[in-house]
Amino acid sequence: MAEKKPFYITTPIYYPSAKLHIGHAYCTTIADAIARFKRLAGYDVFFLTGSDEHGLKIQQKAEEAGVKPIEYTDKIVASFQNLWKRLNISNDDFIRTTQERHVKVVQEIFRRIYAKGDIYKGKYTGLYCTPCESYWTEHQLDENGCCPDCHRPVQPVSEEAYFFKMSKYQDRVLQYIEEHPDFIQPVSRRNEMINFIKQGLDDLCISRTSFNWGIPVPTDEKHVIYVWFDALTNYLTPIGFLDDPEKFQKYWPADLHLVGKEIVRFHSIIWPCILMALDLPLPKKVYGHGWLIVDGDKMSKSKGNVVDPNLLIDEFGPDAIRYFLLREINLGQDGNFSRDALIQRINSDLANDLGNLLHRTLNMTLKFQDGVVIAPQGESDVDRSLKADAAETVTFFAENMEKMELSRTIKKVWAFIARANKYIDETAPWALAKDPAKKQELANVMYNLLESLRLISVMVTPFMPVTGERIWKQLGLTQPFAEVQLTDIETWGGTPAGIHVGQPEQLFPRIEVEKEEQSAQQPKAPKQGKKEKAEKPAKKEAAAPGQITFEDFNKIQLRVVKVLEAELVPKTDKLMKLTVDLGGEKRQIVSGIAQHYKPEELIGKNVVMVINLKPAKLRGVVSQGMLLAASSGEDLKVLSVDMPVGSEVH
Ligand code: MSP
Repeated sequence: MAEKKPFYITTPIYYPSAKLHIGHAYCTTIADAIARFKRLAGYDVFFLTGSDEHGLKIQQKAEEAGVKPIEYTDKIVASFQNLWKRLNISNDDFIRTTQERHVKVVQEIFRRIYAKGDIYKGKYTGLYCTPCESYWTEHQLDENGCCPDCHRPVQPVSEEAYFFKMSKYQDRVLQYIEEHPDFIQPVSRRNEMINFIKQGLDDLCISRTSFNWGIPVPTDEKHVIYVWFDALTNYLTPIGFLDDPEKFQKYWPADLHLVGKEIVRFHSIIWPCILMALDLPLPKKVYGHGWLIVDGDKMSKSKGNVVDPNLLIDEFGPDAIRYFLLREINLGQDGNFSRDALIQRINSDLANDLGNLLHRTLNMTLKFQDGVVIAPQGESDVDRSLKADAAETVTFFAENMEKMELSRTIKKVWAFIARANKYIDETAPWALAKDPAKKQELANVMYNLLESLRLISVMVTPFMPVTGERIWKQLGLTQPFAEVQLTDIETWGGTPAGIHVGQPEQLFPRIEVEKEEQSAQQPKAPKQGKKEKAEKPAKKEAAAPGQITFEDFNKIQLRVVKVLEAELVPKTDKLMKLTVDLGGEKRQIVSGIAQHYKPEELIGKNVVMVINLKPAKLRGVVSQGMLLAASSGEDLKVLSVDMPVGSEVH
C-alpha cells in the first residue's frame, strides 16, 4: 500500500488564564473539521492543540488565587481537555508548555540560536502589555497610547535582557512572503504583514527578569524566556524535534497553522525568523481566521456576554454547536454567534432537513420492504438527475474542503439534502407501494434514498462526527465507520443489497421556541444548564405586578468606572459622549447629562455604570452602557462613589 501523505495541522495553544469561551471552541472546531476531512481523504494527519502556560499574566492569576502557578494551570488545563473531549476534538497530542519535553526543546533552541550569534544580551527599555504578553514601541501604540491589539494600558519596563536578532531576517522573511502567495491567508492579512515588515523589524526582547514563571535561559537562570518564544516552539516539540528525527522529518514543515487574526503577526513574522535562525523550513500555511462576536459585540467578561461552550453542549449537544459555528461563519471574516440563530439552524437544517430525510427514508424502507435493501434495476430520469447531483456534491465536497471552504461545503451538502427530500415528493413512494407492478420501481427509489444518505453521513462527519456515525449505523451499513474513506463515496452504489436498516432514531429534537421564550425569562446559567432542566428547578415565586424578582435584579451588572474623556455630542444639547475605564477596559457611553454637567466636571470622577446593557446608538454614536444618576425636578447628579475603578455595586 502506498505510504500515506503526512498532514500536520495545529491550533494556537491557549492561555489557561480563564475558562475557554465559544470563540476558542470555534478555532479548535475549524481545525478539527479540517483534520477529520484530511483523514477521510487518506492523509496521515497529526493534529496538535495545547496550552500556553507561562508568563506574567498566569503568575499573577495564580497569586490572586493563592496557589502555585502549576496548580493553577493544572486545573484550568484539565477543563480545556475536558471541553475538547466533549466537543469530539480529535487531536493527536496535547502539548503543555510546562511539560519537561517542551522545556528541553525551548532551552535547546535558545542554545542553538545563541551559539550562532543571533541571540545577544542587552538592555530592554520599552512598553509591555501584560494581557497580550507583547512588547511595543511608542510609535506602535494606539491613539490613546495603549496596546494596539487589546487597547489596554501598557507598562514601561527597563531591564537587562536577551535579544533575538530579528532584524537580520527581515529581508528574507519579506522575500519569502512575497514569493509564497499561499503562505499567509486570507490575502488581506498577508498585505498587513508585508506592510508591517516594511516598517522595519526591531530585534526582539526574548527574556525577562522581573518574574520567574517561565522557562529559564539555560546559561543565565535569573532570566526566563519570553512567553511567545516559548509558545511558538511548541509546534516542534510533539513531532520529535529533539528525540525522533524520523517523525520530525515526516511532519515538519507544518502544513497549516490555524490561528486567530490577531496572532498572525507572531506566526508569520516572529516564528519564521526563529525557524530561519534554526535553519528549518517554514510552515506551508498560516491561516488567520476571523473572530466570533456575540450578538454583534466582542465577548468579554466585563460585558457579561461570554458564552460558555460547556453550557451550550449541555443544552444542544456538541454536533449542533459545531454545525452552527462552521456553517454560519466564513472562515476569514468575523462572525456572529446568537442563540436565536443557533436554534433556528437546529430546527430548520438539522431537525427538519436532515432529520426528516433520514426518518422518512428509514420508515418507508421498514414499512414497504420490511427494512431490507433491495438491489436497484434500471433508472428513471429523476433517478438519473439525483445521482448526477450526488456525484457533483461529492466532488464539490472533496475540492472545497481542500480549500478550507467549510461553510460553502456545508451549504452544498444541505442543498443535496434538500434535493433528496424533493426526490421523495417527486417519486411518491407511498403511491408506488400501492401498486404491486411497481415493486422494483419502489425498490429503486428506496435504494437511491439510502445511498444518498450513505454519502451524506460521510460528508457531514468532519462537521458533526457523532451524527455522521449515527446515520451510518441507522442505515445498517456493515463497513466499520472508522475505516470509511473519501474514495468509498466517490462511486455510487456502495450500499450493499440485502442488509437491514435500523429503526429510525431522532437525530436532533426540535427546540420549541415558545418554551425557549419562557425559559429566557429565567436567569442565564440555569437556562443553559441541562442538570437544572433534568432536576426540574423548584418553581419560582412569580413577582407581583410592578415588582421584580431577585433574579431580575441580579441580571443588572453595576460597576464603578472612571470617566477618562467627556465631550458634547455635536448637534445635540442633551447628549454627552464619555470614555470610561472599567478597570483594564475602555468603553464609550452616550449619556443625557449635558444640561447638568460641563465635560471637564466629569473627567476623573468615579461613577456607577450599568455594564451589561445591550449597546445602542444614540444620534449615530454607539453607547455601550449607562451611567446611574439621581434626579429631582430640574436637578440631576450622577452617582459618584469613592471606591476604586472596577468595584462591583450590589
Ligand atoms: N497563547 C496564545 C497563542 C500562542 S500560539 C503559539 C494565545 N492564546 S489565547 O488563548 O489568547 O487565544 C487562542 C486563540 O483563540 C487565538 O487564535 C485567538 O484568536 C482565539 N480566540 C480568542 N477569542 C476568540 C473569538 N472571540 N473568536 C475566535 N477566536 C478567538 O493567543
